[in-house]
Amino acid sequence: MSDAVAGLYRERLPSDTAPGLAPVGWARAGAANGPTRRSGTVRFEGIGKTYRSKAGEVRALEAVDAEVEAGSIFGIIGRSGAGKSSLIRLVNRLETPTVGRVLVDGQDVAALDGEALIGLRRRVGMVFQHFNLLQAKTVRENVALPLLVAGVARAERERRVDAALALVGLDEKHDSYPARLSGGQKQRVGIARALVNDPEILLCDEATSALDPETTLSILGLLRDINRRLGLTILLITHEMSVIREICTKVLVLDRGRTVETGPVWQVFGNPRHEATRALLKPLTRGLPEDIAERLGSRPAGNSASEAVVEFFFAGEREPDIAALAALFDGPMRVLSASLDRIDGRTQGRLLVAAPLPAAVLPERPELFSQAKVLGYV
Ligand SMILES: Nc1ncnc2c1ncn2[C@@H]1O[C@H](COP(=O)(O)OP(=O)(O)OP(=O)(O)O)[C@@H](O)[C@H]1O
Ligand SMILES: [Mg+2]
Repeated sequence: MSDAVAGLYRERLPSDTAPGLAPVGWARAGAANGPTRRSGTVRFEGIGKTYRSKAGEVRALEAVDAEVEAGSIFGIIGRSGAGKSSLIRLVNRLETPTVGRVLVDGQDVAALDGEALIGLRRRVGMVFQHFNLLQAKTVRENVALPLLVAGVARAERERRVDAALALVGLDEKHDSYPARLSGGQKQRVGIARALVNDPEILLCDEATSALDPETTLSILGLLRDINRRLGLTILLITHEMSVIREICTKVLVLDRGRTVETGPVWQVFGNPRHEATRALLKPLTRGLPEDIAERLGSRPAGNSASEAVVEFFFAGEREPDIAALAALFDGPMRVLSASLDRIDGRTQGRLLVAAPLPAAVLPERPELFSQAKVLGYV
């Protein structure tokens, strides 16, 4: 996308300033040097959500507090049924909390009605797992829909649809019908439609779950690009932890409707404290190599060749100093496997090593590692 397109896209329609909401304070004209957007914050305060039906009550959310900074990518993870969709659907008031408040730029969304609610929905775009495109309408018509509903004049509509389609990198296929598009292209249309009103907040509920890994990467790249270029706040729900690791700054872990963990991704992923988080992160962590697991004993074999198998954890506070780690042992230290990652400029993960005894009692060395465990002996 050229900066000219980004610039064009940043020009806000007069009707975009929602009544009842603070005016948007980010530079539009000449914003080619990057967004200076300061709006697009979301705050959840003591949220409880109970669904009531004939079948009984379902407590979907309880006492959830969270703060989403303007321009950040905020991940929400949790097992199926944890309450993730319920939480983000409060932001554009597709759902209302049973208790607590949702504030968008300080404004309680429950207090909005009529025009103000329409204004809120214009400021909060939403992208869906199954794209939700109208099959009988072309790509252009699908993207134009929110503008049509908002009563935007035709020439302006066309200009904005073109800009949104260019933004998502869909330069052709404008007149195709959804059935003729690949999954990735459909999601680009879904994203263009969510962006056409120039929102400040984008809600993505499993936006990449229906896509293959390669297309997932391209859509993630697009979301990150949009976030950076437009300064858009993104609330992202996904079951794919690698997605969170790739693009989110902060993450909230929900379990049975409650917050069990929250913080910067490097911190939560580097040192998951709750069982639910650990279970979610399992696909990212490698287990003990099979050949080692088979030979692993709980006691040293009692000969000089016996080695301790030690797992070092790094939670982002420091980078592994291999020489210093090796110096903890009386003989050569071998690296058996490693799954280290760099998130947000911080190294986290684990290092599995084997080294001669005596290492049964590993000294605590907070300057070297976050945690160390002797798993057994080979
Ligand atoms: N409209 C509704 N009426 C009644 N119960 C509902 C409704 N929507 C959600 N629930 C229930 O609320 C709980 C939380 O649902 P929610 O859809 O928020 O979970 P989720 O974390 O998004 O799950 P998933 O990962 O499967 O999408 C579940 O027990 C669900 O069955
Ligand atoms: Mg859901």
